[in-house]
Amino acid sequence: MGSLQRMRRAALVLTLLAHCYSGQSLCRSFAAQRSLDQLRQKSGNQIHTPAITNPLNRMVVPQEEMRIITAISEAGSAGDWPRAKAAYIRSKGLFTNVFNAAMVAAFKCRYYNDGVAIYKRLCNAGLPKTEVTYTYALKIFSKLGQLDQVRDIIQEAKEQLKPGIPLFGAMIDAAAEAGKVTEAIEILDTMRSENLVPDTAAWGSAINACKTARNSTVARHLVNFMIKVGVEPNYIVFCNAVGAHNGAGLVHLQKLKSDMAGMGIKGDFLFVETYVFSLIGTQFSARSVTEAVDELSELDPERLTEMASIISEARASQIRLTGLVKNVEGALQRLGFG
Ligand SMILES: *[C@@H]1O[C@H](CO)[C@@H](O)[C@H](O)[C@H]1NC(C)=O
Repeated sequence: MGSLQRMRRAALVLTLLAHCYSGQSLCRSFAAQRSLDQLRQKSGNQIHTPAITNPLNRMVVPQEEMRIITAISEAGSAGDWPRAKAAYIRSKGLFTNVFNAAMVAAFKCRYYNDGVAIYKRLCNAGLPKTEVTYTYALKIFSKLGQLDQVRDIIQEAKEQLKPGIPLFGAMIDAAAEAGKVTEAIEILDTMRSENLVPDTAAWGSAINACKTARNSTVARHLVNFMIKVGVEPNYIVFCNAVGAHNGAGLVHLQKLKSDMAGMGIKGDFLFVETYVFSLIGTQFSARSVTEAVDELSELDPERLTEMASIISEARASQIRLTGLVKNVEGALQRLGFG
């Protein structure tokens, strides 16, 4: 692909931002890009041993180690970390694949600190890292909120290999955890410029960044943009977009709900709760109907009507309501709505 074409493609998302925020933000995006490049050029200062080819890895993985990988993976999928860890400990620690399997299992079982220990051991052993290694290291460190490590891993991964969709996805997730909207969009841009088609999950996690940052404008534009480039949103995309609209204008929330229904995507109890919370617009935590009455009585009647309507729609579709939403339902009845 020609570089001009590539630039045109890459500019798409930035153009989107420019539309939202006048020329200024475009400059800011480029500034952010520059500092990322500087970051990439900065050498040294890495905590990880750079990947080096270990002759041992050219060897066929022996049967015993293969069995260990299987045992780790099975236990990890079953959510049984102690069993996965016991299998991992039996390994001689000579093969990246065993470490990868253990990191995946630790992540699935949410034993993030153990995941870090496994990653560090792999680094110290000087074993080569694969895309799976970097992807899960990123997921683990971003769950722990260790942003410096996240940054270093992204840098090292980009130096060592050409990231594919899963690794880019983990990078967007890391940006999303930290609520870094511009960074998430830049990663989408990079993917597009490298001719990778960001999938629904990648767009969904960029919209999740908007949710963390409460950036409804960008969330809305990302939903429209993904549809425009032919990627179908799913339930998670809408759930995140609605979450990004906490306290935002009623019309925007109503539009998201009707777009979702128009695409035949069904909500569930989590969507209903997210929608109700976004209508309320504060950290809602009423533990009783009486407390909920206090919180809701401040709100605009139009928002209360909308709340009553989504709750009754949920009842009609037999969606199980969460405790908090039930309190809202009770409060709405007391206030004469629904
Ligand atoms: C939303 O994100 C964009 C891009 O990072 C930024 O320019 C804008 O200021 C953000 N808006 C809000 C309300 O945070």
